[in-house]
Amino acid sequence: MANDKIRIGVNIDHVATIRNARGGRHPDPVKAALLAVSAGADGITAHLREDRRHISDRDIDQLMARLTVPLNLEMAATEEMLAIALNHKPVSACIVPEKRQELTTEGGLDVVGGYDHLVSFVQRLREANISVSLFIDPDEQQIRASKKIGADKVELHTGSYVEKTGEARAAELDRLRRGAALCESLHMEVHAGHGLNYETVTDISAIPQFTEFNIGHFLIGEAIFTGLADSIQKMKGLMQAGRA
Ligand code: PXP
Repeated sequence: MANDKIRIGVNIDHVATIRNARGGRHPDPVKAALLAVSAGADGITAHLREDRRHISDRDIDQLMARLTVPLNLEMAATEEMLAIALNHKPVSACIVPEKRQELTTEGGLDVVGGYDHLVSFVQRLREANISVSLFIDPDEQQIRASKKIGADKVELHTGSYVEKTGEARAAELDRLRRGAALCESLHMEVHAGHGLNYETVTDISAIPQFTEFNIGHFLIGEAIFTGLADSIQKMKGLMQAGRA
């Protein structure tokens, strides 16, 4: 499964955050998604939260109608989100934990503890030909439970890796390395994401099992200074250099 290619999924949630700060339609996350695709994004990721704090239902309608690359719908394991996913049938759905008060997705999904709740979600999404990813920490038990529950792939949470420095960061990178290797041995595709930036993307790109990174906040923030196409192309260049 290890390969030379690494895809970038651009998360456009925070274009919607800026739009929603004033209401109205500007800046339009769908326009940003189309621009991201023309700049080289291999996929688009959007998280429809229960509280609709950024992406809206209308955004998902528009993305499904207009995107020429796969949409990866991030969603909590709720009946409401399942119905939306089954209605739209995005190429993939990434199940994430969601707490109402959190600023962002803090930590991975507990597939071990939530197994009985999650199993039918994974099953019903897969029956609709939606490829299912689970957003988990790089933990052996969580990876094994994700395989057992029938997920097509996992996305390993890179939050701890990016937040730490020095030896502690090296230890987190090693955890990601071991997690990615375990996924490969279980014949499960493995992605990564959360908090990645120009500095942290290089070392993690060198881990050959990762086939996709989902990156949002940094790219949208950096776009203020250099434009979205530039921030995506620079990130993709660093990913390719790290992989080489
Ligand atoms: N992957 C998942 C599963 C996420 O929940 C998020 C944040 O919404 C990201 C990737 C992107 O993280 P960031 O915006 O920090 O790059």
